[in-house]
Amino acid sequence: MKGIILAGGTATRLFPLTATTSKQLLPVYDRQMIFYPLNTLIKAGIREILVIIAPEHSGQFLNLLGSIFKKYGVRLLFEVQKVPRGLAEAFIVGEGFLDDDNVALILGDNIFEDDFTRQIKKFRSGGHIFAKKVSDPERFGVVKFDAQGRAIKIVEKPKDWLSDYAATGLYLYDHRVVEAAKKLAPSERGEIEITDLNNFYLRKKELKVTIFDGEWLDAGTFDSLLEAGRIVKQKKLYKKFHPIVNRAIAEFNLEMKNICKKKLI
Ligand code: G1P
Repeated sequence: MKGIILAGGTATRLFPLTATTSKQLLPVYDRQMIFYPLNTLIKAGIREILVIIAPEHSGQFLNLLGSIFKKYGVRLLFEVQKVPRGLAEAFIVGEGFLDDDNVALILGDNIFEDDFTRQIKKFRSGGHIFAKKVSDPERFGVVKFDAQGRAIKIVEKPKDWLSDYAATGLYLYDHRVVEAAKKLAPSERGEIEITDLNNFYLRKKELKVTIFDGEWLDAGTFDSLLEAGRIVKQKKLYKKFHPIVNRAIAEFNLEMKNICKKKLI
């Protein structure tokens, strides 16, 4: 299983913060947002990860992540996405990297309290997504279940109420996802939608949807960003990181301190 973190995009909802840096490099309590999705993947044993970034922030991402993971056996690669055309484009941008392997895609602004290691390690084929009950489903891809709890429909930001279950930003797919993504037509908002990929697997009866209860934060607005920092602190999520991620962050901090000291001398 390989991993992709989608950290491109313009994040206009967070302007002016995102006029000077990437959303995924903004702080969530004591570390940059990108470390949360990275942690979710690394914790699950994934050691080859492609980070998709916007051209204007590529230097900042390289500076932060470019060298701190390699000695722990984590191969991080970067791919620049010039113009974002929707989440499903991750698989087209990442085609060469994926090379027919299964993939876990995680959105760079999604913070999960739960550990999905078991589901990620068990995944073999089809698609597997994770749904969470929310009070504002109209903001998300929404999953409708039948009386037996089987997913029957997924709609991107439905105008009329469909269900309270949001499809969160962690997606597991087999290698067919690349060809499926290439065949998608853009939606009304001009994007190729991850929801359409989920429906591709759902139509084949090969989409598994797991409901989870732990915290899930999509830190894409001022309020949710603030809330994310508050919950991370309150639940001490920053203390539950995988040792590899903790060591990498500590190493970066030490390097920075040494550079600052040198500059002062
Ligand atoms: C995207 C997806 C949506 C999903 C959400 C999770 O929404 O399109 O299906 O529920 O991420 O964070 P966007 O962030 O593009 O509004």
